[in-house]
Amino acid sequence: MANIAVIAYSTYGHTNTLAESIIKGINESGAKGTLYQFEETLSADVLAKMYAAPKPAYPVITPDDLKKYDGFIFAFGTRYGRAPAQVSSFFDQTGGLWATGALIGKFGAFATGAAGQHGGHETAIMTSIPFLTHHGIIYVPLGYGNPTLFEETEVIGGSPWGSSYVAGSKGNLPVTDKDKNVAEFQGKSFGTLVSTFVKGKSL
Ligand SMILES: Cc1cc2nc3c(=O)[nH]c(=O)nc-3n(C[C@H](O)[C@H](O)[C@H](O)COP(=O)(O)O)c2cc1C
Repeated sequence: MANIAVIAYSTYGHTNTLAESIIKGINESGAKGTLYQFEETLSADVLAKMYAAPKPAYPVITPDDLKKYDGFIFAFGTRYGRAPAQVSSFFDQTGGLWATGALIGKFGAFATGAAGQHGGHETAIMTSIPFLTHHGIIYVPLGYGNPTLFEETEVIGGSPWGSSYVAGSKGNLPVTDKDKNVAEFQGKSFGTLVSTFVKGKSL
């Protein structure tokens, strides 16, 4: 069975909702999904001033945890069109894994979200791909396999780069059922792909 980690960073909760739908899809594919969170780097004081939501109960990922998985889906809200510092800080702790080639041949994908429809969904993912590239992790795009990605009649997240949500400028918009459905689809298709590879390798 393929083992897949979904690692989320969320300040206000939207990304955790998306990540939970991704996990659902991974488990539907027959792979085993495990949900983690990135370590927080902001102080409790700063988080309180940002009106941050309480942290979920998911375990905090360590670099060594990555070795246990065949694939990873990294999920985080957009910060100035890029990944949050908390995600970069974690990536910067993986030098030991890079030096030993520990993640070569594993699979990786991204999910994100932003306040606005045009606030950087694609750029947050695109600018994170070098992390995968340098580790030799194979990037798996979402593509256009889910029909929701063709809809144009309402505010909707998701792109060929990965599932996503639109949170609104005050974080006032919930993650929609359609966005959850795309996230579940991403988990299921990623899980199916990684499982096929793991099965093939064991033959
Ligand atoms: C410092 C900072 C920078 C942000 N930059 C952007 C941005 O460039 N574009 C955008 O649409 N939203 C931006 N946002 C909004 C976040 O993307 C949004 O709050 C987040 O995705 C909500 O997800 P969460 O509930 O999981 O924290 C920013 C938020 C913060 C705190």
